[in-house]
Amino acid sequence: MEYVSIRVSTLRGDQKINFNVFVKINDKHILYLRQGDSFEGVRLKRLKEKKLKKMYISAEDEPGYLDYMKKNIEMAYDNKSGKSIETRGEIIQGQQQSNVDQVFENPENVQVYNDTKQSANQYVDFLMRESKAVATVLNIENIDKSKSHHGVSVATLSVALAEKLKVDPKIVQMMALGALLHDLGHSTANLDTSKPVTQMNADELKLFREHPKLGAQIAQDKKHFDQLVVRIINEHEELLDGTGFPAALKENQIDPMSQIVASCNAFDRLVTFENIPRAEVAKKMIIERVGQYPLNHLQGIAEIIKNL
Ligand SMILES: [Fe+2]
Ligand SMILES: [Fe+2]
Repeated sequence: MEYVSIRVSTLRGDQKINFNVFVKINDKHILYLRQGDSFEGVRLKRLKEKKLKKMYISAEDEPGYLDYMKKNIEMAYDNKSGKSIETRGEIIQGQQQSNVDQVFENPENVQVYNDTKQSANQYVDFLMRESKAVATVLNIENIDKSKSHHGVSVATLSVALAEKLKVDPKIVQMMALGALLHDLGHSTANLDTSKPVTQMNADELKLFREHPKLGAQIAQDKKHFDQLVVRIINEHEELLDGTGFPAALKENQIDPMSQIVASCNAFDRLVTFENIPRAEVAKKMIIERVGQYPLNHLQGIAEIIKNL
């Protein structure tokens, strides 16, 4: 039998699968989930805990899989589908995560980038239109400390913050794409980004400090990346007091959209990779990081988090 790989993040929600799913162990494909199973709740959690990114289906089941994905997404974006916002949010979060992984793996692919951009626009509409959308997505824990899940969390929080700051919705869409892809520079480097920065050794820290510039170079080389996206990738670790990296820019040199993503990135890093409880992070940042991030951002994030 011939197999094709599929992303685990595309298997979400209570729609039954119409194909068998396999895992690969020592070059052998082992049946993991049967036709008729679905991926909500406990089963999804177990799957994430395994930190599997890819699974396999038989090549002849591919049309069935594509059909499953299409139905899943249509249902998730339809607020009259009768499905809970949690199920819908899980499916949509998974789709965005899968998009980020695809761009990270194929930054040269114009089609992948354009699909991701279009899908990000639809995602921003969902976040702005449905009152529980932001909370639902942010409440999906990044169990396996995935970079692409981190991208979706940063984008989601950035959109909520931008809404509070009354940013023009057209710019918010482009900012969201930049936020999804902000850690593109981590896609090639051999660095374990899941650990706290405070636990990195000198070599790891050096790699870590290179990632914005590296990501911006990858994006700039491919002519299809939008300029604001490249800029956000390059500037998301800059700080208002000029102590950030890669260029130690001053406040007036950092694009306002990069500043929003930087604030939200710092927040999610502390929650996801430094393991600090969410409610504490908001307070901690206001006390310890004021001067590095705009105070109205930190206060805005604190309010958003309080309402989750
Ligand atoms: Fe980063
Ligand atoms: Fe990040």
